[in-house]
Amino acid sequence: MERTFLMVKPDGVQRNLIGEIVSRFEKKGFQLVGAKLMHIPTELAEQHYGEHKERPFFGELVDFITSGPVFAMVWEGENVIATARQMMGSTNPKDAAPGTIRGDFGLTVGKNVIHGSDSPASAAREIGLFFKEAELVEYKKLV
Ligand code: CMP
Repeated sequence: MERTFLMVKPDGVQRNLIGEIVSRFEKKGFQLVGAKLMHIPTELAEQHYGEHKERPFFGELVDFITSGPVFAMVWEGENVIATARQMMGSTNPKDAAPGTIRGDFGLTVGKNVIHGSDSPASAAREIGLFFKEAELVEYKKLV
């Protein structure tokens, strides 16, 4: 079953949006298999956003994501990587459709509430950066 890494960013945590965001993915039918409220160490933030290292906003990005607690999650389900991206909306909230998380709750590209893996390779890499295998649960089929 496909897995993705999602993270409520410091702006989303401070605005008390964890419950709203978790609820959207639960109601969609995905299963939460791992979660933690944490401060991201600078080194982990630089690794996580390594592909943006040469961008002019890299320093700002690392400063912001380490500025307060984030809520890191692993979600599982059919096509969860692409569907979660649709549910999050465009990276820049000004382009994100109403009904998406960024469309409903975000205003600026820097403080865009949530991060989600953009491919199976990113999902595997990001899950591995943030979670040990033993921190992820398995569900037994109920029926
Ligand atoms: P995220 O999905 O976490 O992945 C990379 C992040 O870079 C992205 O969300 C944005 O929050 C951030 N980002 C993209 N463009 C800019 C920018 N011009 N200024 C600041 N942050 C940016």
